Amino acid sequence: MAAVRDPASASSAGAWALRHLHLELRVAFAPAGAGRLHGTARLELELLCAREGAGPLRLDAHPTLVARRATLRPPGGGEPVRLPLSGRRFAGYGSALHLGLPRPLRPGQRLSVEIDYEAGEGPGVCWLTPEQTAGKQKPFMYTQGQAVLNRSFFPGFDTPSVKCTYSASVKVPEGFMAVMSATSWEKRDDNTFVFEMSQPIPSYLIALAVGDIVSADVGPRSRVWAEPCLIEAAKKEYDGVIEEFLTVGEKLFGPYVWGRYDILFMPPSFPFGGMENPCLTFVTPCLLAGDRSLVDVIIHEISHSWFGNLVTNATWGEFWLNEGFTMYAQRRISTEVYGLAYTCLEAATGRALLRQHMDNTGEDHPLNKLRVVIEPGVNPEDTYNETPYEKGYCFVSYLAHLVGDQSKFDAFLQAYVNRFKFQSITADDALSFFLEYFPELKEKGVDSIPGFEFDRWLNTPGWPPYLPDLSPGEQLMKPAEELAELWAADGLNMEAIKAVDITAWRTYQLVYFLDQVLQKSPLPEGNVERLSEMYPKISQAQNAELRLRWCQIVLKNNLEAEYSKVKDFLHSQGKQKYTLPLYRAMWGGSESARALAMETFSATAPQLHVNVQNYVKEILGLEVAED
Ligand code: BES
Ligand code: ZN
Repeated sequence: MAAVRDPASASSAGAWALRHLHLELRVAFAPAGAGRLHGTARLELELLCAREGAGPLRLDAHPTLVARRATLRPPGGGEPVRLPLSGRRFAGYGSALHLGLPRPLRPGQRLSVEIDYEAGEGPGVCWLTPEQTAGKQKPFMYTQGQAVLNRSFFPGFDTPSVKCTYSASVKVPEGFMAVMSATSWEKRDDNTFVFEMSQPIPSYLIALAVGDIVSADVGPRSRVWAEPCLIEAAKKEYDGVIEEFLTVGEKLFGPYVWGRYDILFMPPSFPFGGMENPCLTFVTPCLLAGDRSLVDVIIHEISHSWFGNLVTNATWGEFWLNEGFTMYAQRRISTEVYGLAYTCLEAATGRALLRQHMDNTGEDHPLNKLRVVIEPGVNPEDTYNETPYEKGYCFVSYLAHLVGDQSKFDAFLQAYVNRFKFQSITADDALSFFLEYFPELKEKGVDSIPGFEFDRWLNTPGWPPYLPDLSPGEQLMKPAEELAELWAADGLNMEAIKAVDITAWRTYQLVYFLDQVLQKSPLPEGNVERLSEMYPKISQAQNAELRLRWCQIVLKNNLEAEYSKVKDFLHSQGKQKYTLPLYRAMWGGSESARALAMETFSATAPQLHVNVQNYVKEILGLEVAED
């Protein structure tokens, strides 16, 4: 692929091929929380373009990352040369590190550059006190790279357009375990863990966690990792289920190239449901529902093994290539394992999220297109929303609809992965390949059917012009819709309500029902109270997806008697997709809801990921510190 310029990177990635990255790290916890990473990053580079490489070597970094010294290691030994080093401002979310290189340099020349640095508490490096962990005994640290956060973890080319293999050596205090997104690991005698990732990956997928972490096998190539107090629950949740998802994925999309697929259960403040770090997905402990009901998140992260981790979006403006294809792959696997009806129901809840998002922002909002223009200075993180996921899913479903035959489209997906594996691509690359793969469709001009132009899909905001048919889920959705109707009525027909037995409903059926109730809210006076009494399974639920919906209903109906549930839920976890909608609802609600928001935020802010903290501050109109 031609090198793509990534406006979110300050680096001179375009001039260089990055052959390998090595990190030499020492983890030092501090009693008060924020510890330090003492490190050396070694970049093994090859000059591609003498003209672009004429200036200094520019690396992505962050104001919280202190670079102490840069050294050039001449190939084949020789005296190391100290390089001049200076930091420059780039954007609110990162800075640039300039390294002066000896001249002249010729294309093809190889350089090995080392930067000694320290990383403190940056947005990508999170330090948790013992109280912020599940076990409350030992501190914990983890890194989260996506999208542009790893520049606070190590200096490098922090752009998804560049891939390299990496290795790391991580020294931790006695009694701690280190895990990374790596193909192999080994523990040495002096509390040093050595990792090797043997496949090229983008910078955002390099991830580290250090804590009191133990593991248990859950399949032939999978284990769960968690704090000791969670490991039993983690094993129980996923024992014997992961392998099937991997085999179905391989059947559909081709070989699983990453060796192992392990899962790390994070402390409750982890801001995502799941993060697809290769070989080792990081997940929220909310997935420990006790009944495997939230396993769609795991299927989603497994699907990234092909879409995102093998074939990667070259810039964050085309994030839908990662997430839209992954949603499609997730639902293909889900259909094979759980059937079409259940998968359509799950997809309907996804569609409801897209509807809510577009209602909130207005359909024409510039973020509601698949290809987002990320202006210089704009943090790619701030463009995150449901569009790349669910509109992306609709677009991939539309491509499948054009092909008209599921097995042919599956074969295309496999060919697509094979064509672009280990590369970073743009939507144009993907769509040209689609048209090449199906010459008869190209011939017919399917890319320019009025109303459905590929260009419109990519560049026009708004509701998807094509929606996949979810009617196979109707047998599950209809009863939920009808029950929601009953609860929204003025005089409640309790006889009809009691006739509906929800005891056997699956979690996503309840979720779908609650989404319908939420849409119809506020309900007539008194109805929500009755609903709460009638279904303790919902109003007292421990399942995070149910709790989120119940809290949203409580707020939309201003049910002050149950405010404590909102507070408890926000105290118990810090996932962004749960936290922000609840603060938005509180802030848009009554005086007392606003007070609840303020009170809850001041108590929980220190536990939240710094980005989530800042988004909540924006919602509450509090000042956000410039970083
Ligand atoms: N890669 C994302 C998480 C992410 C996106 C982190 C952007 C940072 C920036 C992950 O695969 C994801 O989409 N997780 C979802 C799971 C869901 C769609 C099943 C989540 O966390 O909710
Ligand atoms: Zn994803």
